[in-house]
Amino acid sequence: MTSIGTGVATHPLDLLTPEEVTRAVAIARASGKVPEDAVFVHVRLHEPPKDVVAAHTAGVTVDREIEVQLVTGPGLEVIEVIVSLTAGEVRDWQVVEGMRPTLLFGESGNAIGKVRAHPDWQAAMARRGITDLDLVQIDPWPAGSFGSPHEEGRRISRCISFVRESQTDNGYARPIEGVIAFYDQGAGEVLEVLDLGITPLPPNRGSYLPEDVGPMRTDLKPLEISQPEGPSFTVDGNLVQWQKWSFRVGFDPYEGLVLHTLAYDDDGRTRSVLHRASISEMVVPYGDPGAMHGWKNAFDAGEWGLGRMANSLKLGCDCLGVIHYFDVVLATEAGDPYVVEQAICMHEEDYGILWKHHDLQGGTNETRRSRRLVISSIATVGNYEYGFYWYLYLDGNVQLEVKLSGIISPMAIEQGVIPEFATIVAPGLAGPNHQHMFCARLDLDVDGTNNSVYEVEAERVDAGPDNPWSNAFRQKATRFDGEMAARREVNPATSRCWRVINPSQPNSLGQPVGYKLIPTMSTPTLLAHPDSSVGKRAGFAQHNLWVTPYVREERRAAGDYPNQHEGGDGLPRWTEADRSITETDVVLWYTFGVTHFVRPEDWPVMPVEYTGFLLSPVGFFDRNPALDVPPSSGNGSCHG
Ligand code: CO
Repeated sequence: MTSIGTGVATHPLDLLTPEEVTRAVAIARASGKVPEDAVFVHVRLHEPPKDVVAAHTAGVTVDREIEVQLVTGPGLEVIEVIVSLTAGEVRDWQVVEGMRPTLLFGESGNAIGKVRAHPDWQAAMARRGITDLDLVQIDPWPAGSFGSPHEEGRRISRCISFVRESQTDNGYARPIEGVIAFYDQGAGEVLEVLDLGITPLPPNRGSYLPEDVGPMRTDLKPLEISQPEGPSFTVDGNLVQWQKWSFRVGFDPYEGLVLHTLAYDDDGRTRSVLHRASISEMVVPYGDPGAMHGWKNAFDAGEWGLGRMANSLKLGCDCLGVIHYFDVVLATEAGDPYVVEQAICMHEEDYGILWKHHDLQGGTNETRRSRRLVISSIATVGNYEYGFYWYLYLDGNVQLEVKLSGIISPMAIEQGVIPEFATIVAPGLAGPNHQHMFCARLDLDVDGTNNSVYEVEAERVDAGPDNPWSNAFRQKATRFDGEMAARREVNPATSRCWRVINPSQPNSLGQPVGYKLIPTMSTPTLLAHPDSSVGKRAGFAQHNLWVTPYVREERRAAGDYPNQHEGGDGLPRWTEADRSITETDVVLWYTFGVTHFVRPEDWPVMPVEYTGFLLSPVGFFDRNPALDVPPSSGNGSCHG
């Protein structure tokens, strides 16, 4: 084995560096087994097992492993390589048959060119009177799994088209309804151009650019955030400390932003809360049954990659205040490193009041300001934007908020027709019903890994001698013993939440320390039939909650290879084993999101829609942990 360089990481969870990508690829190539025409799907950190992270001490050499994924031809073969930078050797070489990687950028770019040049597609454009083909926008979509002969043995996309008036126009205003090109991504060939019939192009443009939308408001005065002494956090590499919190920032090509080893410093005792938290998968199933739209089910994490699609964020636009940015490193499909500058933004935000009491008798009036640390990243996946915002609070709360924006994926309709499965947003243009379902993987370690999970909800007590006013209600807590019992849905009527406790760590009141997962906003499960293609492929979205025992390889809710997968992988498959989930290292998987019945207000660009969840301490502390937050300085009126 050729030895190439050594690792330089000082912590097992350090962010990937350009040098590490270069070295990892060189080590893989030195094996002699990487063909000339191999495409590098990804190069990412092979995250070490939990015990290795826990046992790491500063100054000790890190055994740094990098995962390199390759495809070597047009067929269904993916190669997974693990290399050790420290030892300079290939540790593992697996050929995975029958699976397809995420859609590749190079191949998708080729799809656009090949479709544009294809005579059948050009004829379909000509039938619609579209002559300037350079103004046609072609979007390759993940093709799904519907038993089409084109799918068999191939990595394909379905390409749909939109026409612009100019290069910077909003193409989504004018969908070219009825035309779908099936494209073999691996072989680089157009397989078929389907023309389902002509629908007139919508008459109006959908520009949202300031020069097109009329006069701007003139009465918004500047609002500036001033932090004259700088922020309250410190950053060392990817280790962040803010108030009593500490964590490491991570990044994955598919999951995007990752939080590692989130812990709370409690009077000098480092108390673990989350070992790892990320968006494991997401899917956008469309609810229109027509031939043009019924197949649309985009797995934006697994089929495109929330990390691969991350934006570089800009001060004053994406983030406000005193910002710390993290750059992240990804690999091109040629195996070269590239840096996404400012892919992750971190800053503090004032968040209204933290706690308050005005003692009318004693005359004291105490108010404390809430503040949160915001760690965010934004992915643009085709027409849509997804912003992922982790919030840490002074009272021990941890929150994830997802902000959805961008442009809906619309359809052209005959004017005068009222669509049953879509909302008209402009003349001749409608937004199909769809969902955005996210699955957060939450590896909670509440004061260590010996955890159990309870469903906790309100229960009304029957009238009787013990309940003479019929007013009584109590808290019902049911422990999940196995994985099957932990497939659960939200229930706002009973304030249902899920509590993770450490039964061997009581607080000073004798209660087990815990954190609860609270569905903060109304959240659906998958509306497509469970036996439908997407119902099987996005099995994780059949339930809001899943709990599994920690297994290092179980990372992605729909499995590692959701692209064109027939379904059943990931959470449904793993939890079928009904493994024990009591007094063990548990992982919670929470599926949440929105059912998007499009509004006219969502056009031509969508004001942010919000979804997310909250993790809140329950008996983790002995009392309000934010009593020691001082009154804000400067005005004297928050105390006394
Ligand atoms: Co939507």
